[in-house]
This record gives sequence, structure tokens and C-alpha cells, in this order.
Amino acid sequence: MEIIRSTSEMQSRCLALREAGKRIAFVPTMGWLHEGHLSLLREGRRRGDVLVLSIFVNPTQFGENEDFDSYPRDLDRDAALAESVGVDLIFAPEAADMYPRGYRTFVDVTGPMTEVLCGASRPGHFRGVTTVVTKLFTIVQPHVALFGQKDFQQLAVIRRMTGDLNLPVEVVGMPIVRETDGLAMSSRNVYLTDDQRRQALALSRSLDLARGLVAAGERDSARIITEVRSLIEAEPETRIDYVNICHQDSLQEQPEVDADSVLLLAVFVGQTRLIDNGHLMATGRDS
Ligand code: PAJ
Repeated sequence: MEIIRSTSEMQSRCLALREAGKRIAFVPTMGWLHEGHLSLLREGRRRGDVLVLSIFVNPTQFGENEDFDSYPRDLDRDAALAESVGVDLIFAPEAADMYPRGYRTFVDVTGPMTEVLCGASRPGHFRGVTTVVTKLFTIVQPHVALFGQKDFQQLAVIRRMTGDLNLPVEVVGMPIVRETDGLAMSSRNVYLTDDQRRQALALSRSLDLARGLVAAGERDSARIITEVRSLIEAEPETRIDYVNICHQDSLQEQPEVDADSVLLLAVFVGQTRLIDNGHLMATGRDS
């Protein structure tokens, strides 16, 4: 396994691999790897001849008062985990190489898809994500790229961008990996105190509650959302950013639950913002 820092070196290496007929599988991350990331990498290993991991805490997707500075970073730790799942190349660029002085170009998926949910509470976030993912795709030249359904809206936005721009990359969505007690794995879970870690279970329990209501015949989104909100608000340090039931493709709110409905949650536990989601009826695309 090799670690490459330079954008131009990474691009020429990947172009040469493609010319040699290698199929490149790519997993973009911000590092502090956990089992969620490793599940993407294992699937990438199966789908490509060469497995590329990027580790880049992307400044353009963080808001002014967000956790860019405190985001956990440890390249040695990540490299050991990456090697254990068969990564061939780690691309770990410097911000000054990705966004040199005078950088001016952004990729924006416009309209409701990036304005609702996380887009409403984190203005500019998806513009940062789509910009960096476009740049990473251009540098790494992947045939296939893997993303987690944990970031459900991000996956939908990246699929839209890839389609709209005719990018020759197959985008694969992978199920949410959870701790044994149900908490969705996240690099941000390290911020939680023991007591907050317990309170954070309100997110996955919300999904169980909502699915139970739907299984019992409830279809009214507003009633389900009310129940979920009171479950979350029962924990002392939680603050709800949003609780919505949306169509899985358009991300538009749905007043009535059907097979396309996804419950999407963003909740602060103390200072830490956590997200989770899941379908409300059993489907082939369940998470
Ligand atoms: P990051 O939060 O590091 O996540 C990298 C990838 O891992 C994303 O596709 C995310 O959905 C997936 N992932 C995270 N937790 C997961 C879990 N519990 N189960 C399954 N997959 C999980 O998402 C980003 O980085 C960035 O926005 C990025 C796409 C790299 C652009 O900067």
C-alpha cells in the first residue's frame, strides 16, 4: 500500500492504471476510519482491481461554526486499518494542493434536493461535498465509487450530480453499519461523553418506533413525527435539527407513508450533530 499526497502524482498514477486496463474502485472519506468505512472498502475490494481510499477533511463542506478544526485526524491509524482491508493507494492531499490560492470553481446541485434537511441547516455544505467529490473523481478516475446510506441525502445528491454531469463513474450505495446497540457508526461519535453516547440511542430507537407504528398500520407522517420527536426530546441533552419523512429519491416530504418513505433525522446530542435514517417499510433498498 502506498500513500500519495500530491494531486498531480495521484492523477498520473490513476490515469496509467486505467490505461493498463485496471478497474479502479474508490472510497472517498474524511478519515478516522470505522467499520462503516471498512464495509465500503471491502465492497470496493471485490469490485475493482485497484482499491483507492481518499482521506481529506474537506474545508469547503464545513460551516464557520462547525467542527473542521476538531475533526479527528490520525493518518497512521487509518493507514493500518486501510492496509488490513486491502487498500492499494491512499490519497491524502493537503488542502493547499486541492484548493490553491485563487481557487474559484464550485459544483452545485441546485434546487430543493440540496436546500432541504441537512442543506437547510448547513448552507453551502453540499456545494462543498459535490465540489470535492468532482475533484476527487477527476483525480482518481474511478470506474466505481462507494458511498454509505448513512449520509442518505449526500448519496442522493452525488447520484444526481454524477448523472447530470455524465460522469463515467458507477455510484454504489451501501447499507448503514451500526454498533451492536444500534447507534450508526460515525467518526463524530468520539465526541460523545458516556452519558451522551447513551442518549444518542434515541436516533436508532426512533427508527424502530416509527417502523413499529407503520407495521401497526399508521400511515400519517405527522403523527409518526410527533411520536419520534417526543422520544428524542425525552433525553436531556438532545436538540432536534430535523425529523422528516421523505421520498427516497426526490427527498420531498411525504404526508403519507409508502414503500418509498425514509425517516431522516438530525439531532444534536450536546454539541455533537448526529444523523440517521431508514426506510419505514421493508424494501429491497433498505438500510
Ligand atoms: P465521511 O463522513 O468520512 O464518510 C465517508 C463515507 O463513509 C461516506 O460515503 C459515508 O456515507 C460512509 N459512512 C459513514 N458512516 C457510515 C456507516 N455507519 N455505515 C456505512 N457507511 C458509512 O461523507 C464524507 O466523509 C464526506 O462528505 C466525503 C464524501 C468524503 C466528501 O468530503
